[in-house]
Amino acid sequence: SGSEHSDLILKGKKIVVTAGGTIERIDPVRYITNDSSGKMGAALAQAARDLGAKVKLIVGKIQIPLPEGIDTIRVESAEEMYEACLNEWSDTDMLIMSAAIADYRPKSSSPRKIKKSGETMALELVKTVDVLQTLGTQKEKQFLIGFAAETHDLDTYAAEKLQRKNCDLLVANDVTQEGAGFGSDTNIVRLFGPEGRIADLPKQSKYDTARDILLEASRRMYRGAS
Ligand code: CTP
Ligand code: CA
Repeated sequence: SGSEHSDLILKGKKIVVTAGGTIERIDPVRYITNDSSGKMGAALAQAARDLGAKVKLIVGKIQIPLPEGIDTIRVESAEEMYEACLNEWSDTDMLIMSAAIADYRPKSSSPRKIKKSGETMALELVKTVDVLQTLGTQKEKQFLIGFAAETHDLDTYAAEKLQRKNCDLLVANDVTQEGAGFGSDTNIVRLFGPEGRIADLPKQSKYDTARDILLEASRRMYRGAS
C-alpha cells in the first residue's frame, strides 16, 4: 500500500523501538521473564531503517541475534527500559513499544543468592513502571505506538489501552491465532487509531507487518504535523 511514495518516507526521523522481554531479578542467579522473542521489534527496527529513519533499538531479553547495523542499547528490567527511553525521549519523533515489559517485579531483589529453607516460599511482587503510559502523559511531538497481545476481547482491550496510554496507533494481535504471537516468524495484527479500528493486516512476515505499521504511522504522523 502506497509503496510508490514510501521509499524513504522516514528520512531524518528519529525512531526508538523497544523489543524483547524484561528481566526482573529475584537474586543474582534467578529472575522473572516472559517468552518474548524480540522478532517483531527487530523487524520494526530494520523496516524503519530501510524507510530512512535514524533508529535506536532498546532491547531486553531476546531469542534472536541482534539485528546488524542498528544502534542498540541493552537493558534488563522495566526500570532500565524506562530510563533508556527517557534518555532518548526529547528528540524522538516516534516511539514504538513492542517490548513485552513485565507488569510486576519482585518487591526486593536480594544481592546474595537466596538459600533454600522452608517447604514453601512466597515471592512478593510490586507493579513495574508503565513506560508507555508514563511517556504518554509527557507527549509533545512524539508519535506513540503501543502493542497489545490478547487472548480474548481484543477490540475492547485494544481501544482501552490506546486511550489509557495516550497512543497514536495501537497494534493488537490475537495470540491464540496460528501464525501470530510470541516466537512466530509471521504475524497477524489489527491496527487501531484514536477513532477506532483502522485495518486488519494479512498474515505475513514480521518484516512486512512492520513495514505496513510504519507506513500507516507515517501517514498519520505527517497528517498530524501539517
Ligand atoms: N507497557 C509498558 N510498560 C509496562 C507494561 C506495558 O510500556 N510496564 C507497554 C507495552 O510495551 C505495550 C503496551 O504497554 O506497548 C501494552 O502492554 P500490555 O501488556 O498489553 O498492557 P498492560 O497495560 O500491561 O495490560 P495487561 O498486561 O493487563 O493486558
Ligand atoms: Ca502487561
